[in-house]
Amino acid sequence: MGRQFAAERRSDRYYRAAQREGLRSRAAFKLDHLADRYPILRPGDRVLEFGSAPGGWSLIARRYVGERGSVVAVDPRPMDPIPGVTHLRMRIESPALRERLKGERFRTVLSDMSPRISGAYATDHARSVDLVRAAGAWAVELLVPGGSFVAKVFDGDLLPLAETELAPHFVRWHRTKPPASREASSEMYVLGLGFRGRPAPAGPGDPVGPADPVRPSPPPPGTRYIDRTIDPDSLL
Ligand SMILES: C[S@@+](CC[C@H](N)C(=O)[O-])C[C@H]1O[C@@H](n2cnc3c(N)ncnc32)[C@H](O)[C@@H]1O
Repeated sequence: MGRQFAAERRSDRYYRAAQREGLRSRAAFKLDHLADRYPILRPGDRVLEFGSAPGGWSLIARRYVGERGSVVAVDPRPMDPIPGVTHLRMRIESPALRERLKGERFRTVLSDMSPRISGAYATDHARSVDLVRAAGAWAVELLVPGGSFVAKVFDGDLLPLAETELAPHFVRWHRTKPPASREASSEMYVLGLGFRGRPAPAGPGDPVGPADPVRPSPPPPGTRYIDRTIDPDSLL
């Protein structure tokens, strides 16, 4: 680790707060901000999370869903165990994952996956969009009606491609950058709220019913979001 990087980290308030609160990563605050603002994690929810190591988001998700809820966390990297979180040490593309998730249903699908950074922005952006599309494909397959999807993406000109595929499956679609996301970073989050249901006929035992209310809650005082709401129908 470079000396300058180490010094920047020490002066980063989210990094220090994550250390103080035993949150494993400063990224935990990003999910906390998103969950505070949007109805993506409720008590009792079942959550599927991609790109979970070292477990900052898993800890936050677990706090929101509580004892009655559960989190399935997918990442090839190791993660110390968290009660109520099942870690599947696999890549999202792994054929074994399909077998493992067969018949499962979730109210929320999260992705904080980042590609291995090459330094060439066009490449990193394209890989990041591919990861959003992969997570989104799982969301469309496994979400219950009314469910939510959240994914990190490095902004760029290929993003509308993923949005054209995914946004029409949701009542509301947002692009947002929570306060804990560094301003200089090109990362942001896309959110789909109010999953409309799988296009294929539902299987026996699937929950059915109207979409949940999807109005975002007001931002907490003092937080700065850069936000844009996109009408999913405009992408059809
Ligand atoms: C920024 S870290 C996630 C941090 C985590 N949200 C937290 O709060 O601790 C990104 C993660 O994405 C994972 N990742 C990258 N490509 C992946 C893939 N194809 N399948 C699953 N996970 C992947 C990496 O292994 C890495 O752990």
